[in-house]
Amino acid sequence: MLTWNLIPEPELTSTREADIRRMLVASFPEYTDFFTHNSFWGSKPEYRLIAEDSNQQPAAHLEFGYRTITVADAPVKIAGVGAVAVHPDHQGKQVGKLMFANLRQYLLINTDVEFAFLGCHDEVEKFYTAAGFTRVHQNVYNLNPDSNTWETYHGPTMVMPIHKCLNEWRTDGIIHLRGMPW
Ligand SMILES: CC(C)(COP(=O)(O)OP(=O)(O)OC[C@H]1O[C@@H](n2cnc3c(N)ncnc32)[C@H](O)[C@@H]1OP(=O)(O)O)[C@@H](O)C(=O)NCCC(=O)NCCS
Repeated sequence: MLTWNLIPEPELTSTREADIRRMLVASFPEYTDFFTHNSFWGSKPEYRLIAEDSNQQPAAHLEFGYRTITVADAPVKIAGVGAVAVHPDHQGKQVGKLMFANLRQYLLINTDVEFAFLGCHDEVEKFYTAAGFTRVHQNVYNLNPDSNTWETYHGPTMVMPIHKCLNEWRTDGIIHLRGMPW
């Protein structure tokens, strides 16, 4: 039995943040060094969506924040999503899919966000598609948090409709994040 919590970043305790880091290390063994010290990459989170097990340990996590980006120079309100993970003990049980259903429900009721947005690796595109995202094939211009330089990202980019329909996403022109990715 998992308990879902939506936590505004200022209310995240250091104990809970440490628990999230431990969970991210377990889920991303190839990034152990990074997640030993960090619980997100890029833009600072505004909210955490966490599922906790009966021992109050994180079983699933994502973080998100709001921003108006531009797509082909037109403004688009997004929730940028990052640090998506399900603890290995809980993977393959539809927990990740449920996490995005919960996120979508929250954004629909509480915000005027048009799309949820994320960048991912090729290997997990299928998961995000199952969770309600669609891949868009445009370049993304953003501030790289590691090099602190503006650059064009060419990896898989996924969007999920919230208050707009998928056919309202402009498929021409560059996606300008106006800041760091998530
Ligand atoms: C990717 C991840 C979040 C998926 O969570 P999960 O709870 O195991 O996924 P679910 O059980 O909800 O799977 C939902 C669907 O996606 C598919 N899926 C899940 N992981 C997948 C993967 N790695 N590759 C392809 N398909 C995948 C499932 O088969 C399932 O399909 P179905 O709806 O047809 O049954 C989880 O495996 C994880 O944390 N991995 C390590 C960290 C990571 O890669 N995070 C993403 C970084 S961008």
